[in-house]
Amino acid sequence: MAAFSLVIADTLGRERLTRLVGAHPGTDETLQSRRTPPWDDTRPGRLSVGASTVLTMTDSETEIEIETETGFLSETKVFYDAIAEDYAALFQEELKDRPLERAILGVFAELVEGEGPVADLGCGPGRTTGRLAALGLDVYGLDLSESMLAIARRENPGLRFEQGSMLDLDLPDGSLAGASCWYSSIHTPVDRLPALFAEFHRVLAPGAPLLVAFQAGDRHRHYDRAFGHDVSLTFQRRQPDVMAALLTDAGFALHSRTVREADESLHETSPQAFLIARRPTSS
Ligand SMILES: C[S@@+](CC[C@H](N)C(=O)[O-])C[C@H]1O[C@@H](n2cnc3c(N)ncnc32)[C@H](O)[C@@H]1O
Repeated sequence: MAAFSLVIADTLGRERLTRLVGAHPGTDETLQSRRTPPWDDTRPGRLSVGASTVLTMTDSETEIEIETETGFLSETKVFYDAIAEDYAALFQEELKDRPLERAILGVFAELVEGEGPVADLGCGPGRTTGRLAALGLDVYGLDLSESMLAIARRENPGLRFEQGSMLDLDLPDGSLAGASCWYSSIHTPVDRLPALFAEFHRVLAPGAPLLVAFQAGDRHRHYDRAFGHDVSLTFQRRQPDVMAALLTDAGFALHSRTVREADESLHETSPQAFLIARRPTSS
């Protein structure tokens, strides 16, 4: 049986030794034991090792495909674990200065009709989770970052917050009455957005609304330092039309597309976009 060894440096510069022995990754003990933590998007038959290419290796008996990623989930978690308290101190009260955002959250809440919980995906310190709960929704929060979740629990006693990746939700098909993705898709590489929206489509009930908020634009920004911490993360801006097309490609019906101009008094440097889409009742 063939054996392969790879040393791959991820974007944080850490090297991981991956030794592959023979059979299909989904059944091979060596690979199973190397599986990465829950925030890495590891699927049966594939191994996420935190680099940026897809390698396919073939021996006479077996083809082994290794999906390698940018390590963006690990990077995102490390970043927000480091800056969680600073982030919360800066943004926790932000909605008070943003009437349009409050209105958008209100529209989303009114569109939630069916049975089941609403998920605030990438909830951070729970400011939108708390707002949606105050609007009467049965809402819980999910985030990669334990530090963010600790703040969310502290700030919203009585609400449920869970750790996990929104790319791989531990939820049955059609089980959510709504989902909000409030500035949390901004670290997902563009080539992973179809998979992200497909996952949202899978877990939402027919007719259930999805809210996606993000900074509008074309540029991305990479930070190597934030709030005095040495961290590394890319922030993506996206064109609303591109995001709307990705949502419809994933099977959603677009409900509304709202863009607010940048507000200099709030130190914003880009317009803000808010898309609401629904999983069609017939899909
Ligand atoms: C810019 S913050 C926004 C937080 C919150 N929605 C708010 O508006 O305050 C982005 C958040 O999304 C979370 N996040 C990013 N990608 C995620 C993923 N794949 N799964 C779960 N959480 C994610 C990060 O950990 C971080 O807390």
